[in-house]
Amino acid sequence: MTWNGGAIEAAVTPLLPGFAAELVAEIDSTNAELMRRARAGFMAPTLLAAERQTAGRGRLGRGWHSAAGDSLTFSLGLPLAPADWSGLSLAVGVALAEALHPRLALKWPNDLWFEDRKLGGILIETASLAAAQAPRYAVIGVGLNLRPPPGEGLSTPPAALDELLPSAAPGDILLRVARPLVEAVKAFEIHGFAPFRSRFNARDALRGRAVVLSDGREGTAAGAGESGALLVHTAAGMASVSSAEVSVRPAVNGP
Ligand code: BTN
Repeated sequence: MTWNGGAIEAAVTPLLPGFAAELVAEIDSTNAELMRRARAGFMAPTLLAAERQTAGRGRLGRGWHSAAGDSLTFSLGLPLAPADWSGLSLAVGVALAEALHPRLALKWPNDLWFEDRKLGGILIETASLAAAQAPRYAVIGVGLNLRPPPGEGLSTPPAALDELLPSAAPGDILLRVARPLVEAVKAFEIHGFAPFRSRFNARDALRGRAVVLSDGREGTAAGAGESGALLVHTAAGMASVSSAEVSVRPAVNGP
């Protein structure tokens, strides 16, 4: 990819002194690499992008697979000490969607959607120094489809940024999102999810729709609550879903 590392560093360093942007041709996973570095004691703010990942990681133990050039894969690692971590992936999604396109939607808790198809995903992991509780080192991994991957075997074919930004080069997309992403994470560290709630709800792909949770519950999605939990009207009342182990999808038919 055309690499704008210098411009990314110039945009982000005022917010994160000591920040460095790095591109590697191939790695197992940019998240795994920044977690390894953190566990080895290297906790400087870093944006690590990869042309290709051989073992990209997704949420819930899934993978993130893409051929070289088909998706933009990067991780931002930085020391972070929010009072409450809940809602961070939603805040990151808000920052990415707002920086990329007005028509991008967010699917709780960590997906970017376009026209009901997944365009990107976020995977957040954290590491701590043995003795210290705070700050932890947060690794915020982002995968964005640049062009349509083969859709065979998937019930919903994925979306890609070339539908929305046909002439944008991957390096320009990274430059476009880097500073807004860091701004959002720093704002989250101070204010938590509150400044992002209405912005998430404005782009919530599920709001008002019949949904099914992976634990079997069904209902109507009602946006994100104060701490970023998914609110779902169920027959048993309003459920607040915050477990990272629960996933949600639109119901095919009504509730
Ligand atoms: C998901 O949709 O489940 C989250 C996918 C996150 C993928 C990105 S690609 C860059 C970073 N490195 C990884 O191994 N995963 C994240």
